[in-house]
Amino acid sequence: MKKGKQLYEGKAKRIFATDQEDVVWIEYKNSATAFNGEKKAEIDGKGRLNNLITGLLFQKLAEKGIESHFVEQISENEQLVKHVKIIPLEVVVRNIAAGSIAKRLGFEEGTAFKEPIVEFYYKNDELGDPLLTEDHVKILDIATPEELQLLKKEALRINDVLVPLFGDMDIELIDFKIELGKDKNGHILLADEISPDTCRLWEKGTNRKLDKDLFRRDLGGLTEAYTEIYNRLGGTI
Ligand code: C5P
Repeated sequence: MKKGKQLYEGKAKRIFATDQEDVVWIEYKNSATAFNGEKKAEIDGKGRLNNLITGLLFQKLAEKGIESHFVEQISENEQLVKHVKIIPLEVVVRNIAAGSIAKRLGFEEGTAFKEPIVEFYYKNDELGDPLLTEDHVKILDIATPEELQLLKKEALRINDVLVPLFGDMDIELIDFKIELGKDKNGHILLADEISPDTCRLWEKGTNRKLDKDLFRRDLGGLTEAYTEIYNRLGGTI
């Protein structure tokens, strides 16, 4: 597979064309950003860890029948994925209150919900990724009500796989964000990444944070925490 011209550069990744029309080449960067890009840093090794963790998680999800854009790992910070058109929604699943829901609705951090909840945010940097209702999604023409139901169902199915997977590693999956895209046949696939940048992961018993909140809250130890996640998932660094 040949790396072609750069198609896009985001906050955490660069995307390149390949010599195969339906496959693109993703390079994970070491950039860390938070609060809609207001806080920035370069963290050595972060791109590599997120690439490796995402690859492992997408493979484990595939074993449970959840299809994603992932094709193969090609180096420590690069992977090949199927070319999809990203649906401009950030789909968030929450098992336990933390982050923005704690702030917005007054839940104490760590409060478990009776059942997982799903939220949709508009993937739009200029607007600061606002929370959307189903009617907003409809008037913005982002997805049909049927597609929205499908996205919700898929997000909960992914949660049903990830909660026990992390649970077996003595880690609580507090919440996570996914993005989905459509392939050239209009088929909806899990895309982007699933990593400690896009999940909240707390060690069971101690509630030690092993995710991007270490960066958001200036707690330090991010590379060590992400390495620990990768190793607990069965990787070896
Ligand atoms: O900030 P908030 O509590 O809404 O985040 C919920 C989950 O979604 C967290 O795991 C966070 O890391 C993830 N997220 C993300 N990218 C965003 C917003 C949230 O990965 N732009």
